[in-house]
Amino acid sequence: MKRTWWKESVIYQIYPRSFKDSNSDGIGDIPGIIEKLDYLKELGIDVIWLSPVYESPNDDNGYDISDYQKIMDEFGTMEDWERMLAEIHNRGMKLIMDLVVNHTSDEHYWFMEARKSKDNPYRDYYIWRPGENGKEPNNWESAFSGSAWEYNEATADYYLHLFSKKQPDLNWENPKLRSEVFSMIKWWLDKGIDGFRMDVINFISKDPSYADGEIVEGKPYASGAKYFMNGPKIHDYLNEMNQAVLSEYDIMTVGEMPGVTPEQAELYTRENREELNMVFHFEHMDLDAGSGGKWDLRPWSLVELKKIFTKWQTRLSDEAWNSLYWNNHDQPRVVSRFGNDSEAYREISAKMLATALHMMRGTPYIYQGEELGMTNVPFDSIEDYQDIETLNMYHERVAAGENPDELLKAIHVKSRDNARTPVQWDTSKHAGFTDGEPWLAVNPNYKTINAEANLKNGESIFHYYKKLIALRKHHDIIVYGNYRPLLEKDEKIFSYIRELGEEKLLVINNFTAEAIDFIIPDAFKETTESKLLISNYEANDQLQDFTLKPYEARVYKTN
Ligand code: NOJ
Repeated sequence: MKRTWWKESVIYQIYPRSFKDSNSDGIGDIPGIIEKLDYLKELGIDVIWLSPVYESPNDDNGYDISDYQKIMDEFGTMEDWERMLAEIHNRGMKLIMDLVVNHTSDEHYWFMEARKSKDNPYRDYYIWRPGENGKEPNNWESAFSGSAWEYNEATADYYLHLFSKKQPDLNWENPKLRSEVFSMIKWWLDKGIDGFRMDVINFISKDPSYADGEIVEGKPYASGAKYFMNGPKIHDYLNEMNQAVLSEYDIMTVGEMPGVTPEQAELYTRENREELNMVFHFEHMDLDAGSGGKWDLRPWSLVELKKIFTKWQTRLSDEAWNSLYWNNHDQPRVVSRFGNDSEAYREISAKMLATALHMMRGTPYIYQGEELGMTNVPFDSIEDYQDIETLNMYHERVAAGENPDELLKAIHVKSRDNARTPVQWDTSKHAGFTDGEPWLAVNPNYKTINAEANLKNGESIFHYYKKLIALRKHHDIIVYGNYRPLLEKDEKIFSYIRELGEEKLLVINNFTAEAIDFIIPDAFKETTESKLLISNYEANDQLQDFTLKPYEARVYKTN
């Protein structure tokens, strides 16, 4: 397997709006990020992934971009951004930016022109279709509720928006559009950044049939997923992007890809295909969703979770590569979701989850606050939420007669705002995030859960993450070893082996609050010498049968 820096890195995601405010307007900003770079260096991360900081009317918090080459006023200036990049590089860290090119904002110059007339030079930068019998061109639903098509008076036809109506989809069929996007990418790379996270990048090629999706009873719109996810020209476009610009730089790329299978991921990431370095899949994130989708809550099972991880760990060949994540700005907090956020078990289960993830093969991503064990926040009222996906869904379903209390229950579990409450820095007002009024309320548990307390306590979740990251730097096996699952049918323990040459790692994680006996697997029966690399409880180096404590994690190394 080829060794590269991005396989050996740990990446930290910053959602700038919620990270650190420096000018008391209640909104995180770039100078705020600069203030906290030493904190990130202390944690030991290698790369920062910065969610969008470009000019935007903020219909979807910056994922609706009106100018790719300007910085959003609320976040600072281009000088601030340049200073941030220099400060990141000075500390030996790298920066990857968010590339959102499936769509722009409807306030982007291209779209404002395009919507004026059918013969406007920018018309073909977007996707237009005539209506069908006075209705939308097809029945596709937007990810943020309602139809995925919006009528445009001036041209008397519809434009496609897979997300909000303020996020029109770009037309990648148009070579002019592709070349504009590639020049913009090059412009950022020439500023010295170290790569991109690419937003829903497997949506950019649409099936030209624009056929109706299958209607589910009782719903006005249908999913068009099979017509736009991993569409017919997706590999051509990514290969073209790679050859036109990416391949000229020593950078990393990760594509966000809802609906991607490991077989497809292999095609996107295999070295000799020259597309991307890795993808984010969503299979483990979809585990607690029922047939009605994200808001249809259902219990998850550890056996299924392990099956998904094992499939991805074993299916991607040595020439392809995995990303590893529990959290991002769109997902509920992991300790509330797959761990236990009660007072008794929050810390211990957060450390266990970190162990389970960071010991697998792939590049691990940490989302801001995850290293502090930040939890979901159940706001009492819908008024407290800000997220467009949450609000659109709620209002649409209340209007259709659904029970608002039931909807709020689902929102408590799944809303993206769970991830977006401000980072809890200390015990001062608004958790030290801002001196003003935060744009989204701080989680009331900040008096106990915050960075200051974590930094002070050598046994904290922060220090545990720091140790996991440091271990990766010392043991190639954590990065490059192969993966073999153990106890696949066990409903409580997630255990696996990593192997590199003569070396072996045994990773054991108890996903429950129960004490469970663990029997040493056959592969380790003859082992005489072992070393405990990390555990969230006191334990010694000797590998023998033992009783796992609630949410206990242990990693042993032998050779
Ligand atoms: C995925 C991003 O992660 C999400 O936050 C955003 O709303 C959509 N793509 C649309 O850009």
